[in-house]
Amino acid sequence: MILKQFFDEVSSTYSYLLAEREGGEALIIDSVLENIDEYLRFLGTHQLKLRKVVDTHTHADHVSGMASLRNLTACMTLVSDHSPVSKASVRIKHGDKIQIQGISLKVLYTPGHTSDSCCYHMPGFVFTGDTLLISGTGRTDFQGGDAGASYDSIVNHLFSLPPETLVYPGHDYKGENLSTIAIEKHTNPRLAGRSRAEYVAIMSNLELDDPAMMDVALPANICIGDDIGQGLDAAKILSVAEVRAKVRDANVLIVDLREDEEIEKTGTIEGCMRIPYKDLDVILLDIEHPLLQHLAEGKEVVFFCAFGERSALALSRMGDTHIDNCYHLKDGMDAWLKVH
Ligand SMILES: [Fe+2]
Repeated sequence: MILKQFFDEVSSTYSYLLAEREGGEALIIDSVLENIDEYLRFLGTHQLKLRKVVDTHTHADHVSGMASLRNLTACMTLVSDHSPVSKASVRIKHGDKIQIQGISLKVLYTPGHTSDSCCYHMPGFVFTGDTLLISGTGRTDFQGGDAGASYDSIVNHLFSLPPETLVYPGHDYKGENLSTIAIEKHTNPRLAGRSRAEYVAIMSNLELDDPAMMDVALPANICIGDDIGQGLDAAKILSVAEVRAKVRDANVLIVDLREDEEIEKTGTIEGCMRIPYKDLDVILLDIEHPLLQHLAEGKEVVFFCAFGERSALALSRMGDTHIDNCYHLKDGMDAWLKVH
């Protein structure tokens, strides 16, 4: 497995790139906008295809690289379903799995530092964001922070992991880069031997200044999806009613770009073809594929996904290859399920 830790000197943020192997699919956790060239170089050197970017929470101290990485690589963006982010490919919940080739991270919803904080666990490793830092914990005094919830999240969800689990935090300010659950459980000065009430008292008396970049970072990080679909021909963007009218039309192929786990939760549109978004590039090279055959006959294709991000990216991709007759469902299955 490839696990690369990147460090942003300005905000002392750790970002992580995961992949099963050279030449395979990659995932980046907590990217920083200023460092995306470094990630792209690493991806290129190891011939990795970036599939997904995910943040552990909405950051206040740096601008996330998620939007730029999506725009440059057409990867998927994932955020917590408690996130204030306006638009993303997928909204993840406690217990969900974030999967790329050969790697599966389990989502642990761990509110406290912020109301949208999550940690990501796979056997042997946990990426803790600001929920649990080395000899510390993330502040709980803004963005829906709650010291009691922070304690509960750490004790119930992180300290119950196997003690040897490696802890990869979202920040470090003292040059540390790695810990374990056992070390933090027994030596973290805010937690070791502390009751919940003692922890809440400690967190209530930190008296920290606001992060230097807070006024810039928070608004930027909340609107990472706002530019999706801009530049698309308005006639290619369909409402739920317009797609409903096409469902039984033999000249229209409706394509669900979501992954199996997402489809299992919500169901899908009757008669649609399922093509996971990540497979689209390969399919566009396969002239025998039913999607291309359908288009070759001059018929229409309507893409949809969870929230309209992947389908908008797919539409751009089709436009790049000069394939016309493609449309997408605005706001995806989320909108479909809301309109009866
Ligand atoms: Fe944070």
